[in-house]
Amino acid sequence: MKVLLIGSGGREHALAWKLAQSPRLTTLFASPGNPGIAEHAQLIELDAEDQAAVVAFCRDESIDLVVVGPEAPLVAGLADTLRAAGVTVFGPSAAAAQLEGSKGFTKDLCARYDIPTGAYRRFSNAAEAKAYVEREGAPIVVKADGLAAGKGVTVAMTVHEALVAIDDCFDGAFGSAGAEVVVEAFLDGEEASFFCLSDGRTALALATAQDHKRVGDGDTGPNTGGMGAYSPAPVMTPEMVERTMKEIIEPTIRGMADSGYPFSGVFFAGLMITAKGPELIEYNVRFGDPECQVLMMRLKSDLLELLHAAATATLDQVSAEWSDDVALTVVMAAKGYPGTYEKGTPIGTLPPAGDGEKIFHAGTALRDGQLVATGGRVLNVTATGSSVAEAQASAYRLAAKVDWENGFCRSDIGWQAVAREQR
Ligand code: AMP
Ligand code: GLY
Repeated sequence: MKVLLIGSGGREHALAWKLAQSPRLTTLFASPGNPGIAEHAQLIELDAEDQAAVVAFCRDESIDLVVVGPEAPLVAGLADTLRAAGVTVFGPSAAAAQLEGSKGFTKDLCARYDIPTGAYRRFSNAAEAKAYVEREGAPIVVKADGLAAGKGVTVAMTVHEALVAIDDCFDGAFGSAGAEVVVEAFLDGEEASFFCLSDGRTALALATAQDHKRVGDGDTGPNTGGMGAYSPAPVMTPEMVERTMKEIIEPTIRGMADSGYPFSGVFFAGLMITAKGPELIEYNVRFGDPECQVLMMRLKSDLLELLHAAATATLDQVSAEWSDDVALTVVMAAKGYPGTYEKGTPIGTLPPAGDGEKIFHAGTALRDGQLVATGGRVLNVTATGSSVAEAQASAYRLAAKVDWENGFCRSDIGWQAVAREQR
C-alpha cells in the first residue's frame, strides 16, 4: 500500500516509524515531515490547506491511504475533500471533528446521550456567564468554545479568577475561539487519556496514557502541549476501560451516527476518574502528542492494518495487541518554551538508541547537514521497561546523552505512577 502521512511533529514521527514496519507498506510519503520522519518516508512539499493539491497528489501517486496527524486539517475538512474524490483517509469529517473543534457541541452530545461529564452551560455574552459563575461559586472551569491550542481553559480556584477568564475570552484573548464560552463544573479525580479507533459503527479500544501538561517539575508553571507521557495509565484498570467503552465511547459512536456525522478515526478521550467513575473532560479527534509516541512503542500489531480498517469500515475484522511493558517519553524543549524561545540552535549527533528506546523528532530541521531545533517541543526521548520506574530511568539515561545546549526537559515525568509503584 502507498500511504501519505500529513504532519511534522513527534506524533507523526512515531506514526511513520510504526507504519514503516508494516509488511503491507510499499511507499510512505510524508508532508511536510521532519528529519526523523525522513528516515522512514519520502518527504514532499504539500500545503495541507490546499486540499485540491493534496487530492491531485493522491491521484497522481495512486495513494491507498492518507493518514492525517494533526487536528487543524481535519477541522478544515481535508478528510471530506479526500473522500469526495474517492481517496481512502484515516480521520474524521469536518462535521465529526466538531467533537474537538467545539466544546459546546461535545457537551450537547453528552447531554443527549447521557454520557458522564461535568455539568455545564454555554454563553455568548460575558454578563450572563459571570452571573452563572457567581451563582455556582468556585472551583469552576471556564473554556473558550473553539480551538485555542490547549490554552483556552482556566481551572479557576476562585470566583475572581473565573470572572477574569470570562473577560479574557470575550475580549478576544483566543480570537474567534472565545466568541462562545462554556462554564463547567470542576471534576475532582485523576486524569487519564483513552485512545480508541472507530469506523463509524465499531469501536476498537487501543490503549491508555497519562501526560504532564505543565512545564515545570511537580506539575507546576504554565500549560504546554505536553512535556512527557507514559502508557499504560495505572488508574485505567480493566474495569475502568470497560466502563469507558460502555458509558462514554459507545454512546458517542451511536450519537454521532444518529446525528448524521458518523465518526471515523481515533477518539482521544480526556477523562477524569472521579469517585463516580470515568467522566469525559474532552475529546480530541487525533492521536495525542506525545501520547502517540508511547502508544506506538507498545503496539505489537500492524498499525497500517488498523488505520486502514478504521478508514474502510472493517474494524470488526481486526484486533490490536499490546506489549505489557510500560513506555515513557520525555519531551526535550527549547529553553523559554512555552514562552518565547530561540530558533535554529544546534543539536549534536543524537546518541544511539538501544533496544526498546527511540528518540522521536518533533521541531527539528537539517540545515547544511546540521540538526537544529526549529520548534518549542523538539525531541521525544522514549524508552520502555517492565515498570514505570524502569522506563523512566532508561529514558532519562538516554536524555542525558543528548547534546543540545539550548534544550531542557522536566526531570520527573511519570512521578505519580512511580510513587504508586512504590506504595
Ligand atoms: P481541556 O483543554 O478541556 O483538556 O482542559 C485542559 C485541562 O484542564 C485538562 O487536562 C484538565 O486538567 C483541566 N480541566 C478541564 N476541564 C476540567 C474540569 N471540568 N474539572 C477539572 N479540571 C478540568
Ligand atoms: N498532549 C496533549 C495533546 O496532544 O492534545
